[in-house]
Amino acid sequence: MGKLAIYPGTFDPITNGHIDIVIRGSKIFDEIIIAVGENPHKKTLFSHNERVELVKEVVDQLGFSNITADHFSGLLADYMRRKKAIAVIRGLRALSDFEYEFQLALANRKIYPQFETVFLMPSEQFIYLSSSMVKEIAQNGGDISQFVPPVVEEALYKKFGRAK
Ligand code: PNS
Repeated sequence: MGKLAIYPGTFDPITNGHIDIVIRGSKIFDEIIIAVGENPHKKTLFSHNERVELVKEVVDQLGFSNITADHFSGLLADYMRRKKAIAVIRGLRALSDFEYEFQLALANRKIYPQFETVFLMPSEQFIYLSSSMVKEIAQNGGDISQFVPPVVEEALYKKFGRAK
């Protein structure tokens, strides 16, 4: 069996920054699952199913044979165990991400010491990019075509009741 990593997140919605990270990860690991989970601290724009569907469509369009999409509920560590994954991938953009990521990684290590969290740095064009920023721009009618794949752009405009 090859080395499997999980790339977990809320993905509300998936952006080009996430895609950049997962492609980088796919060069290090044999297989990656993008796993849509629930962050109890976040109220999402897209429902769980909508987020999963968007990730699935994006993964299909990417066409990488070693990247697949899935979802999980409950603890990430339990999902990791079930999947026999050896690592979690997280993107680290700026210093402001660090504190939360550090907490998450150490909490996960306490629950399930056998896996590592691997932090990958996005391409600098995505350093400032976040799902929240994309939602805010879309809500106010701005152009988000350089930040998200077309299928996500369409879903966002539909959500906000705007024509593209
Ligand atoms: O994209 P996000 O919101 O930063 O992703 C956070 C996510 C979903 C990966 C994280 O909240 C998570 O793993 N949630 C599942 C519950 C869990 O295992 N929490 C970590 C232990 S405290």
